[in-house]
Amino acid sequence: MRTAQLTIDPAFAIGPADRRLFGSFVEHMGRCVYGGIYEPGHPSADSRGLRGDVLELTRELGVSVVRYPGGNFVSGYRWEDGVGPVGDRPRRLDLAWKTIETNAFGLDEFMTWAAEAGVEPMMAVNLGTRGVQEALDLLEYANHPGGTHLSDLRRKHGAEDPYGVKLWCLGNEMDGPWQVGHKTADEYGRLAAEAARAMKMIDPSISLIACGSSNRRMPTFASWEATVLEHTYEHVDYISAHTYYDPSDGDRASILASAVDMDNFITEVVATADHVAAKQRHKRKLKISFDEWNVWYESRLQADLDRRGWVEAPALIEDDFTAVDAVVVGDLLITLLRHADRVGVAAQAQLANVIAPIRTRNGGPAWRQSIFHPFALTARYARGTVLRTEPVSPRYDTKKYGDVPVLDTVAVHDEETGELTVFAVNRGEEDLPLDLDLRGLPGLSGLSFLSLAAGSDPSAMNTEAEPDRVTPREMPTPTPDGGRCTVRLPAVSWSVLRFGPANA
Ligand code: AHR
Repeated sequence: MRTAQLTIDPAFAIGPADRRLFGSFVEHMGRCVYGGIYEPGHPSADSRGLRGDVLELTRELGVSVVRYPGGNFVSGYRWEDGVGPVGDRPRRLDLAWKTIETNAFGLDEFMTWAAEAGVEPMMAVNLGTRGVQEALDLLEYANHPGGTHLSDLRRKHGAEDPYGVKLWCLGNEMDGPWQVGHKTADEYGRLAAEAARAMKMIDPSISLIACGSSNRRMPTFASWEATVLEHTYEHVDYISAHTYYDPSDGDRASILASAVDMDNFITEVVATADHVAAKQRHKRKLKISFDEWNVWYESRLQADLDRRGWVEAPALIEDDFTAVDAVVVGDLLITLLRHADRVGVAAQAQLANVIAPIRTRNGGPAWRQSIFHPFALTARYARGTVLRTEPVSPRYDTKKYGDVPVLDTVAVHDEETGELTVFAVNRGEEDLPLDLDLRGLPGLSGLSFLSLAAGSDPSAMNTEAEPDRVTPREMPTPTPDGGRCTVRLPAVSWSVLRFGPANA
């Protein structure tokens, strides 16, 4: 049997495990808002229509930041349609998802929901069909204390205090020809720079995110980032990255190695940003906002859209995730943590129903998809300083990414509690014995070992009828002896191993 080795040392610090890495995304798309987080009349909903069961699961998921209101939706959105008396709000065509938008839920409802969920709001402005003025108007409405037309309008609508939104996305996926108001890198770069400059005049405390590429396969990838940043570097704080991995072709070996692609993507965006910084003599290093990532059976989307006419809140891309998908999601989180020095914000897309960890039925229950579990446990236990790990691992061959390691890991050390957490993915089809060397952190004993294993039932899913079929299982707690122990990582699994001071 093949084995792997991992040595952990607190000297190899990458950076703090920022809470903002555990973000999510609520788009006006499908049933993410309507029937997801918001459903007036649902048995668990409050007087404002916020579903209590979804709020509870959102808190359990450990989400830190939530991006809103899109996504592709934002590129045709008029934010002012969604504020004020609900009865006066217009019904509109949403071109992104061929949907009727009722505007019953808008900015003020989202802010109320975010406060209830205990999450930080992250807003996107429309730079598709709109421009600098509308972005400024939205910022004034949201963040200006009062005494102006738009800030007083917010107060009139019941929000006396400014929302103080700190994170702002300058549009969405503007490199994509599918985007309403799609632009060239120069057109977008100029617009984003001007929007950014003016937005910071209203509120210098905000952080701004310029649109990077929609994915690494875009023909314009890297040159898009370079051009956009040449226009915007001095005005923005982050460049975005998006990626989705589609398991539809059944190539399990490759989908399990998706994190290799995400890793390369991050490295390349960092290199491109640093190239612009060098060229323009900037000392400040730009960070990445990885504000859309997930597994997505994307090839099913077009059929979903073609099947129907204009309707309200249709079920759209409600993928049921398998145990293998959960392992992939766990590995993508490992990758984001490993780049904690350069990825400052990340948001899994999306939160409810639409390729989401939380699923609901209208009028019915809400349940946790398989991918809920690695997210929730990583958000809970990745506290402290992320440590670089260099596992010695067997390798295997994949069609998409060539020869890749079977094992992927990252460790997080909490200096305050002395706890060490190791996240590990075994991409291989056999159990993998892992020799752990923890002598760099003397006196640790094992606290727990949880594993979500897909080897024996890879296509298992959680459904309304069977909501807990895929969950992490407790494994024998490791017992380090002289700082060393061996654990057995199940075939195709995501695991979290926790250690704490022996005398605590
Ligand atoms: O999350 C679904 C969609 O994927 C988003 O609206 C868009 O930004 C991306 O292409």
